[in-house]
Amino acid sequence: MTKSLLSVSDLSRKEIEKIFKKMNNFKTKSFMRYKGKSVGLLFEKHSTRTRLSFEVAISRLGAYPIYINKSDTQISRGESIAETAKIFSLYLDALIYRTSDQENMKKFHESSSIPIVNALSDDEHPTQIISDVYTINELLKKKNLQKMKIVYFGDGNNIANSLCIIADILNLNLVICCPKSYEPDLKKLNLVNSNIIMENNPKKAVHKADVIYTDVWTSMGMEKQEKQRLKDFKDYQVNQDLTSLANKSHIFMHCLPAHIDEEVTLEVLHSKNSVIYKQAENKVYAAMAILDFLLS
Ligand code: CP
Ligand code: NVA
Repeated sequence: MTKSLLSVSDLSRKEIEKIFKKMNNFKTKSFMRYKGKSVGLLFEKHSTRTRLSFEVAISRLGAYPIYINKSDTQISRGESIAETAKIFSLYLDALIYRTSDQENMKKFHESSSIPIVNALSDDEHPTQIISDVYTINELLKKKNLQKMKIVYFGDGNNIANSLCIIADILNLNLVICCPKSYEPDLKKLNLVNSNIIMENNPKKAVHKADVIYTDVWTSMGMEKQEKQRLKDFKDYQVNQDLTSLANKSHIFMHCLPAHIDEEVTLEVLHSKNSVIYKQAENKVYAAMAILDFLLS
């Protein structure tokens, strides 16, 4: 079956390191190796960064990006994913796909003969996390990646899941700090034997952190739960009181978009420790490296 990237768990440590190396190369040179190839982008949810960074990456590789609006396709009139995947495989060389249900992603992959790249699902955001771990390594290069304390605050869904999986593969020192019942399901992720620490107390979790990462409390598609979530997560905001307990040289990360004064204050988001724009910038190199890895 064609190699796809539906989950971080589709990659080995060696393959992730290979992608990091490719990112290093793409930072200094683009190459037009994929002239004549076409890469589709099917987004069933909103996106600014992921869509744009992939479109730019595809162009920089010499290939042609084709944005596919789902409501213009026959999928929205009931044509099956399996049939659509077969047709897409006749025209496209790869598909970048954002959807809610990870099962849709799997169905696409099973019926395709082209690589499918998960551009976010409710379960995972692999391209984001690969890019973010590269950014951590790039910015804190004096420290050993495996020795840094990385602390994630917030909801235990897509970003947290991908972070847990990459932490397990690369043997990272990860603390997940979520309110009870919002933690990632390590059993479902097949990570019961990992070293990931679950800590419900934010002050304990942040102690001596090198990396603080947060994400929205109400993800796309969860809007109906917003009121309840604002209550359940209120003690998990990343603000200056909390970040003052981390290592002075810590970096603050957020995949964006942020909900200001919910999971993070404006002060922290734009503090000197914040690396949110570096994260966004590196998404282009990650997209190039991942596509090159899957297409070459
Ligand atoms: N970080 C991220 O995936 O952003 P978008 O939703 O804007 O693509
Ligand atoms: N958890 C967020 C990530 C957005 C990039 C969401 O799914 O909306």
